[in-house]
Amino acid sequence: MILASSVLPGATVFFCAARSPTPCLLPCLGKLVLSPRHSASAPRYHEHFKPAFGSFVRTFSSCPRSATQFYTQFPGVFSAKMSTRTPYQDAALAIVKGAACIALSLKTGRTTRNVKFSKDNKCSITLGPVDNQPTASEEELLKTLTQQKIEENCPFRVFTIPREVATRMYQESYLDEFGIPANVKEVRLVVLPEWNINANIYPTLKSTGQIAEIRFETVKFVAEKRQLCLTLQVVPADNGDAPAVAVEEKVAPEDLPTLSQVLPPSGVEGDDLGNDGQDDQTVTPWDVQANEGGIDYDKLLKKFGCSAITPQLISRIEALTGKRAHHLLRRGIFFSHRDLNLLLDAIEKRQANLASEKREDGAGADAFSGPAFYLYTGRGPSSEALHIGHLVPFMFTKYLQDVFDVPLVIQLTDDEKFLFKENLTLEETHRLAFENAKDIIACGFDPDKTFIFSDLSYIQHLYPVILEIQKKVTYNQVRGLFGFVESDNIGKSAFPAVQAAPSFPTAFPMIFGGKKDVRCLIPQAIDQDPYFRMTRDVAPRLGLLKPALIHSRFIPALQGFKTKMSGSVETSSIYVSDTPEQIKNKINKYAFSGGQATESEQREKGANLEIDVPYQYLTFILPDDDLLKEIGEKYAKGEMLTGEVKAVLIKELQALVGGHQERRAKVTDDMVRQFMDPFRPCFQRYAK
Ligand code: TRP
Repeated sequence: MILASSVLPGATVFFCAARSPTPCLLPCLGKLVLSPRHSASAPRYHEHFKPAFGSFVRTFSSCPRSATQFYTQFPGVFSAKMSTRTPYQDAALAIVKGAACIALSLKTGRTTRNVKFSKDNKCSITLGPVDNQPTASEEELLKTLTQQKIEENCPFRVFTIPREVATRMYQESYLDEFGIPANVKEVRLVVLPEWNINANIYPTLKSTGQIAEIRFETVKFVAEKRQLCLTLQVVPADNGDAPAVAVEEKVAPEDLPTLSQVLPPSGVEGDDLGNDGQDDQTVTPWDVQANEGGIDYDKLLKKFGCSAITPQLISRIEALTGKRAHHLLRRGIFFSHRDLNLLLDAIEKRQANLASEKREDGAGADAFSGPAFYLYTGRGPSSEALHIGHLVPFMFTKYLQDVFDVPLVIQLTDDEKFLFKENLTLEETHRLAFENAKDIIACGFDPDKTFIFSDLSYIQHLYPVILEIQKKVTYNQVRGLFGFVESDNIGKSAFPAVQAAPSFPTAFPMIFGGKKDVRCLIPQAIDQDPYFRMTRDVAPRLGLLKPALIHSRFIPALQGFKTKMSGSVETSSIYVSDTPEQIKNKINKYAFSGGQATESEQREKGANLEIDVPYQYLTFILPDDDLLKEIGEKYAKGEMLTGEVKAVLIKELQALVGGHQERRAKVTDDMVRQFMDPFRPCFQRYAK
């Protein structure tokens, strides 16, 4: 028997077979629906109606399960609303789906089999294929992640784009198992950043904090069907009557979030988090190459999926610290971040709490309540002396330690340099770690708040955390992130977990007393980002906080912007061990000038500051804004010559390097051992 009824323009027709498994569709949709799979003569109907249905018949026949499913998938067709469906439910389903993908290592795309909505903000989601009954700890993690996402008050993004664009950008990730009919040419995407993406026409909340709680009423695994059904009770944070809903954005195609920005860190998809290999610039932890114009940092931001540091963010830092921002921040040398805003939110909240405690009992602020966060940075000990490019992150880290008054851990990766540098022995990299520690100490870190460690020496404490990380990262992932090949030694593949481990406070039990909830901020040059993409990816799956990151640009080689200063190319760098004479000679002889070839030409046309190495070095090391501005203006207009700018730079560098050498000379072996002792009593206050 066939019953047919034409629906809306566009000639979509729905049928119903007598033994339809979804009789509920009839009253609900007021349409007649055929499920050819359940009809004896299905193939015939299918053939007959194929021209009109296209892939719709196929999709539909493969998995019609409930009214709701139809209803949400064919927005152009059914316009009636199910009265019980609320933005709270849609928001909750996105939160829970993302949490489930992480906790159970599920893909996002095509793993939602069914969703149901009932009254009083109850709803359910059926996921599949799921092969095993979730373990107690997986279920626990699912619930914790759900609650964390609510507390994060994360905003939803909604935009409508052509289907082909959605498929190109997001592959199948935005689809439910049953897909979308072929005739749908535009999709409305609902995105919870780095958590979930789904095509959905229904309104969702503005942000996750509008939900007070999502209760898991049942978690039911059905082995035969390889599926997991979660029944949820959503509790609105307000009275739930007229919630604010996410407003649809107009997004230019080039501003669409990337695949990795919409997917959750489930570890099963989005493996290639960076290098597409067909770029005109290379930025990896072991190679930095650009064309004449230097690194295109905007492009890098997009490719890596980091966020730009905005003037507003800098103002927030200034407000929080009560100090003017460091010149490396003001001048955009630290230019990129991940989740710095979330870190600042947490610090603000903490300050507000401390202040109110103080008001209430007069003594609240005296009670020590642990550090606001901790800093983590590092150095690969591959050469005797550091060059000034190496100093940049350390100078900046010192500023952060000073203004936020927080503990700092510094990793010296003697293991890494042994594995990655053909000619270095382990004894040598370990010795260099100790030598480099002196240069680091000379930067002026607070001895009572700073722990410096060599991986080789500290490994037994890191190892439990390293193992947890290694178990969650696949070879495919490290290959995608770091470009390892089959002939690379296996130590390289294992190493990223070692650099990741100090991002978690559990790697320093003697300092943080086993606490899991101390946030971490990692200042670094942008080439280190792949390590911490990986780290941030595994963090939620270990029930740990993702570290926040802040990235710097590279200081260019003396020869110009095509590459960065390199520790192994003597003439590309100014070392902290160079004599005043060496500094002068190197700058005069090698520093690439953006000035004109002759004096008269320079007077007439001025210099190109963008590519002028001496001027750019001054932006890194000259703290005086007014002086820098004056030099820049005069030099660009031709009122200053390259030689004069070089002379300023030489003086500044000599002072910087001279000061460093003086401080370093005072660093004794004993002091190094002090800094390297994690059991010092001064750390015990952080464990409280
Ligand atoms: N891999 C880095 C290097 O070769 C050293 C490093 C270890 C590091 N941990 C870090 C750098 C954290 C920045 C932040 O130099």
